[in-house]
Amino acid sequence: LPPSLDEYEHEELRVVRGPRSGITIAVAVHSTSRGPAIGGCRLKPYSSVGEAVADVLRLSRAMTLKCALADLPHGGGKTVAVVPGSPMNPHAREELILDIADTIGQLGGRYITGPDIGTTPEDMALIHRRTPGGAFCRPETLGGSGNSSAATARGVRAALDAAVGHVHHADSVAGLRIGVIGFGSVGRLLSESLAADGANVIITDVNDRLRSSALDRGIAWTGADLLREDLDVLVPAATGGLLDADAATACRARLVVGPANNQLASDDIDARLRERGITWVPDVIAGAGGIIHAVCREELACDEQETNARIDAIGAKVTRILTHADTHEITTLQAADAVIAHPEPTPARWPWST
Ligand code: PHE
Repeated sequence: LPPSLDEYEHEELRVVRGPRSGITIAVAVHSTSRGPAIGGCRLKPYSSVGEAVADVLRLSRAMTLKCALADLPHGGGKTVAVVPGSPMNPHAREELILDIADTIGQLGGRYITGPDIGTTPEDMALIHRRTPGGAFCRPETLGGSGNSSAATARGVRAALDAAVGHVHHADSVAGLRIGVIGFGSVGRLLSESLAADGANVIITDVNDRLRSSALDRGIAWTGADLLREDLDVLVPAATGGLLDADAATACRARLVVGPANNQLASDDIDARLRERGITWVPDVIAGAGGIIHAVCREELACDEQETNARIDAIGAKVTRILTHADTHEITTLQAADAVIAHPEPTPARWPWST
């Protein structure tokens, strides 16, 4: 599991045992070349420190790409903590969050965190209190931009609509069969918006207890493997690594687009998907709505309208990436890289040319 030297292109990796909590915390700063690194804080019962480190390295690397594609003045970073499998008591949890805040503080402003799997806006408030400026997405009542799930869902919707236009030549999701894997906060909001616009949405989640809340919203639920279902669009909205070699072979949807981070189990999977004629929208662009919202509201002083416009611009970026991939016969991930490397030329506006 330890990353290869090729994969380790990071500026810094800090692995500490929290002095209060005794819990292993890993913070990776992948790049600060565009600005301070940003990326969420994930609490997960990893089976080893090696697994946690490998995850934080991959997740932080993806954040660099995410920020660059979203044209934000930031690089990528990430925090993970190896929590126990069972829920922690509030005091132990608070000690862990304070340990995380101190670790972020030690980086002297080179990394700012945000919520991710296992953490909340309230946790961000605690981090910010201990390390001012160390966290995005504090609750709105405390001066932050709050939960970023709605913004993430909005961005996925923009990506999905653009990709549906590109792949299925449809200008609406009405009547499309869309399978969503993961009924967490983003998966839920997205499913509701798709169903409201007439899509046939089918949900699955490892947590079968969420079934009734899907059915209450009039959304179909299945215990079956959505990879093998006949779908127009597959939406990965759970944890990463869904797309491995087997999944790439089994997938029956022509379009895969969703917010889960690190959807590819390894870097070569996008080529396999391409060979099979499956269009995969890189997660680094589909899931960028959350960070766009946080940075626009908290740093760039954009109002809600401007922020939404920047989130919706994910759609145009997706169209550009998919078109570039088709034209140059490369994978969508390679195309995403190329779109960063070759920014849209700005037309020269010399005073004498008008
Ligand atoms: N979970 C978010 C992401 O991966 C993390 C984040 C949100 C970081 C908002 C900063 C601000 O994109």
